[in-house]
Amino acid sequence: MSLKIISIVGNRPQFIKLYPMIRAMKKSIEHLIIHTGQHYDENLDEIFFKDLGIPDADYNLNLGSGSHCWQIGEGIKRIESVLTKENPDWVLVYGDTNSTLVGAIASAKLRIPIAHIEAGLRSYDVNMPEEFNRKMTDICSSMLFCPTRTAVRNLKKEGFDSNVMNTGDIMYDALMLAQKKAETDILNILEVESNSYYLATIHRAENTDDKSRLKKIIKILIKLSKSETIIFPVHPRTREELSDFDLKRLRVISPLGYYDMLTLLRNAKKILTDSGGLQKEAYLMKTPCITFRENTEWPETLNEGWNVLTGIDEKKIAAAISLDGCDSNLHSPELFGDGKAAYKIMDYLTARREV
Ligand code: UD1
Repeated sequence: MSLKIISIVGNRPQFIKLYPMIRAMKKSIEHLIIHTGQHYDENLDEIFFKDLGIPDADYNLNLGSGSHCWQIGEGIKRIESVLTKENPDWVLVYGDTNSTLVGAIASAKLRIPIAHIEAGLRSYDVNMPEEFNRKMTDICSSMLFCPTRTAVRNLKKEGFDSNVMNTGDIMYDALMLAQKKAETDILNILEVESNSYYLATIHRAENTDDKSRLKKIIKILIKLSKSETIIFPVHPRTREELSDFDLKRLRVISPLGYYDMLTLLRNAKKILTDSGGLQKEAYLMKTPCITFRENTEWPETLNEGWNVLTGIDEKKIAAAISLDGCDSNLHSPELFGDGKAAYKIMDYLTARREV
């Protein structure tokens, strides 16, 4: 009987993580995809399935938006009915979103083995919904696939001594796979030259839900736009909150697909962001990053000043902007593995079946 695996995804970064997993799936494996529907806008959802050649989801639970409690409660119920019907050998959950958590809780309660891909990351910021999701998902999981040595150490400190494996980072796999295609004509479309612009993204709840924080961030971006071009792809969550601001100095654009985003990332002067994934993609592409947060779950990116945590402190941001380029010789992509995390995960899951 073939090994049956279900991947549960629902958000933009999870579609990217699924991309290398799909390619590493052995032919003998029956693999199904549950899409929770947490992300549903074309630019956050369909564009990734299409561009990255991910097969359509076998189940779309159409969860959509709602309060965290609603999303989690409803998500668990809807996932339970699919898992009960399909009864897989393994459930794979990815990252730290509400879709990750609902997949983990439903599977744990049904006593289906769960593998958490991107396990062990910690920002140690209890105010981040993602930190709660990471910890809870790790507790529910039967196998913890870590992207970095730091993540393994974090788990050890919390008493996870077995079923922990450092595979390297699956987003590094995705980046390596995408690299050839990630030279799109987006620079021409936006009429910008390489190394002539900053790329900004803001979508974390702690920045967008707190009006005074968001106001401060936008003021900082507008001030910088007096001397620099700022390209600002806006997540729908942020767009809703921006209607009161005069943004005409910024190059506000819709969220981009993966290849366009990587092209813009690679060619930017610097990145300004509160995203976790982008900090790391910037690092891997050797583009300096300024992070509007006080902490990060990717501390490796801080080495040698490639990523600077400024919070929303104007002085710190100005200092980070004025820093000259980082030394390319002091750059260690191997901290994130060798780009073969998905194959290591598949090898482990199939070997465990054979034992
Ligand atoms: C979610 C994840 C976050 C991840 C991000 C990637 C959680 C708690 N957060 O944040 O960790 O970094 O995805 O993008 O799971 N909205 C739309 N269209 C959509 C989706 C959302 O308009 O397709 C709007 C809605 O107003 C919604 C808001 O964005 O209420 C927030 O969406 P939600 O999925 O709850 O969180 P994200 O901010 O996308």
